[in-house]
Amino acid sequence: MTARKNFFKLILPALAAYAGTCFAADSAVVYFTKYENVPASSVDSFSRASYYPQAKSGITAFVAQEIAKQTGSEIFSIKTKSSYPASFDEVVSLSHEEQAKGVLPSLENIPSLDRFQTIYLGFPIWSMAMPQPVLSFIHDAKLEGKTVIPFCTHDGYGAGSSFSVLAGRLSQSKVQTNGLQIASSSVASAPSEVKEWLDKSVRKAQTKAASQPQMIGCRVGGHQIRIEMNNTPEAKEFLSKLPITVNMGEFGGREFYGPMKGSIKAVSKGQYRFEDGTLTYCPTNNTVALFYAQSSRPNLTMAVYPMGKVVSDLSVFEKLNSYDSFEFTK
Ligand SMILES: Cc1cc2nc3c(=O)[nH]c(=O)nc-3n(C[C@H](O)[C@H](O)[C@H](O)COP(=O)(O)O)c2cc1C
Repeated sequence: MTARKNFFKLILPALAAYAGTCFAADSAVVYFTKYENVPASSVDSFSRASYYPQAKSGITAFVAQEIAKQTGSEIFSIKTKSSYPASFDEVVSLSHEEQAKGVLPSLENIPSLDRFQTIYLGFPIWSMAMPQPVLSFIHDAKLEGKTVIPFCTHDGYGAGSSFSVLAGRLSQSKVQTNGLQIASSSVASAPSEVKEWLDKSVRKAQTKAASQPQMIGCRVGGHQIRIEMNNTPEAKEFLSKLPITVNMGEFGGREFYGPMKGSIKAVSKGQYRFEDGTLTYCPTNNTVALFYAQSSRPNLTMAVYPMGKVVSDLSVFEKLNSYDSFEFTK
């Protein structure tokens, strides 16, 4: 398969050390643009819409590249298996038909986005909505637990409800609905608009999110347990391994524990006591435990490292089978 045919084409290497930014390098920009999904070199014949001659790219592609540059993100383009027609009017009628019928056009291969925590997702507005290939992308890509930050370009009518529709469709992701909207007529000022948006909206949201404790979920026996994670090295390493399933057995009427896949480096101070609701790691036998009762007798024979605390009802532990799979997810 040629590089041109790849659904997602790596356009820029990670620019993690990009000067002046304080964005994490675990972000990717994923965008759809008409110009890269019509027959080669096809530019709309009468309006030159969907093309920015100075950058020799689609309008959204230009904005996407600017976001990638300013955040040090990798960048990928959404490509459909079949091209859209060259004529603007034909694209309009085909997109209407796709929207009306809820068609999800087939895409070229989607690479794993596992290593990215934040996805900037960009698209042109088509008939007041996201183009259907973007819906194909969110249907196929595994974006659960990720932060998704949308941006769009348009011809003057704005984003419509596309950002909130995106949030509704990605209920398992954290969608920031204060996305960037740029009119195609002012695409030349995208570098400064992107900078202002990143400074004012995105960084502010990230700072707020960073100051809040990370919550995770744990699914077991049809129950959902919520855990507030600590800010310790062990907790961070555990978080980096999610999603993870740990097969845990009940012990002593006070805890469920089971073997950790891979190990966690224990560097902070361990303790020989537990509190009800604590999620711990024990390096001695490489196990994870959830303590739920009997903290009146809190002493342990092995050191454990607290990683988080259950904030949901602890009585569910009394209803569980004595051995079960605990699925931890962000
Ligand atoms: C099929 C189609 C439908 C469009 N519908 C709208 C619309 O509803 N509102 C709007 O402001 N612009 C609309 N546009 C204009 C594009 O959103 C705008 O030109 C955009 O910047 C093009 O980005 P691109 O070059 O990345 O494809 C439409 C364009 C196309 C091709």
